[in-house]
Amino acid sequence: MTIYETIHGRRSVRPGAYTDAPVSREVLERLIGAANAAPSHRRLYPWRFIVFDSASAKTELGEYLAERQQANSENPVPAPKLRITRERPGKAAAAIAIVMNPDLEKLPEWEEVSATAAAVQNLWLALSAEDLAGYWSSPGTICKGAEEFLGLAEGEKCLGLFYLGYPAEQPGPIERPAVERKVEYR
Ligand SMILES: Cc1cc2nc3c(=O)[nH]c(=O)nc-3n(C[C@H](O)[C@H](O)[C@H](O)COP(=O)(O)O)c2cc1C
Repeated sequence: MTIYETIHGRRSVRPGAYTDAPVSREVLERLIGAANAAPSHRRLYPWRFIVFDSASAKTELGEYLAERQQANSENPVPAPKLRITRERPGKAAAAIAIVMNPDLEKLPEWEEVSATAAAVQNLWLALSAEDLAGYWSSPGTICKGAEEFLGLAEGEKCLGLFYLGYPAEQPGPIERPAVERKVEYR
């Protein structure tokens, strides 16, 4: 597969569409290695990843997300919705918390966010080499207030969860905005 085919074939595939096949630590290390090869201004490499791949860690994560979903809502969240949230991590081979530690004395935050997003995109594209699929999930339940649950250090931020697993089937392409609308030549 060419790099263009990999890029154009990349899709968001949610945990409900994964088989229950586990992902090995060896594969996870290759994926994180790809993330770690992303560009970073001043070579600060502001990212780190917390991998929930054991059944107990995924259960704990699901319980935390459901508890926060209810706590963040003014009204009772319907039980089926909470159940979906609680069970989501368990349907993935792994859920990876995307953590960024921006050095705000050296760079504006947007550069550190950009570097971290580049790392996630590397990981996302590398999934295709492993026949895996994934998606970036950024609910308030993990992006805000989860510092203690995740064990983040002062200044670290969570930019969401990356779920991955072996898809029952790879999805087809979706329509993208016309390139002509995204470019200006001078
Ligand atoms: C930073 C970021 C955060 C995202 N957060 C969510 C999310 O919370 N929920 C969701 O359903 N999709 C989320 N997505 C995935 C987008 O919905 C998805 O990329 C988009 O629908 C296009 O589909 P594709 O990835 O298959 O091209 C996120 C994507 C990015 C880049």
